[in-house]
Amino acid sequence: MKLTDPAVDISLFSLPIGKEDIFCDEKPLVLEIGFGEGEFLISAAQCDASRNYLGLEIKRGRFRKAVRTAKDLSLKNLKFLHIEAEIALRQVFREGMFDLALVNFPDPWPKKRHSKHRMFNREFISCLARVLVRSGKTIIKTDQLSYIEQIVSEFRRSGLFRPAYPSPGFVKAQREETQTKFEKHFREASQEIFSTVFLNLP
Ligand SMILES: C[S@@+](CC[C@H](N)C(=O)[O-])C[C@H]1O[C@@H](n2cnc3c(N)ncnc32)[C@H](O)[C@@H]1O
Repeated sequence: MKLTDPAVDISLFSLPIGKEDIFCDEKPLVLEIGFGEGEFLISAAQCDASRNYLGLEIKRGRFRKAVRTAKDLSLKNLKFLHIEAEIALRQVFREGMFDLALVNFPDPWPKKRHSKHRMFNREFISCLARVLVRSGKTIIKTDQLSYIEQIVSEFRRSGLFRPAYPSPGFVKAQREETQTKFEKHFREASQEIFSTVFLNLP
């Protein structure tokens, strides 16, 4: 794998993989789950050379688009994996590997009968806790009030994280410089965006 090749082929490694398998240095590592077309990660990696950035995306077309865009930039601190997130968190990564996990606009599955497909359930949260450093942060944003409430409740119930915000455990997200595609879309439509932060307990 070339240092600046953004696509990671995990078949080249014995699992679980560590930071040093993917990056050439030990900088703090940020994970984005479900990066879409990667605009957010690409921009973050360009603006902040002090951290390494790794993204996971299940949809091949989106993964490929992100890789194509990033290839021209030759960034050493940005890598993408085409993989289902829970499998990656459970089997692919070494424990305590990430300093920060970001989930920007997880698929909302707003219909009640589909809510079982939502990413944040007990299993997923426990896999996430495993790969974060002690006190590692998870930041989640969504436009769905019912989803942010469910996420906060699942994190609290897990006993594996502590909330950074007092009750109700989430806030209205401030507009930031680097926005994801979905965030731009929701802000243009004047929709509210909610954000929560949890810290991994020892
Ligand atoms: C609503 S989109 C948000 C995309 C991007 N984060 C943004 O804010 O513009 C959710 C993304 O998560 C990806 N995704 C959903 N479930 C996933 C999973 N289990 N593992 C990896 N990616 C997933 C989807 O393919 C999609 O690209």
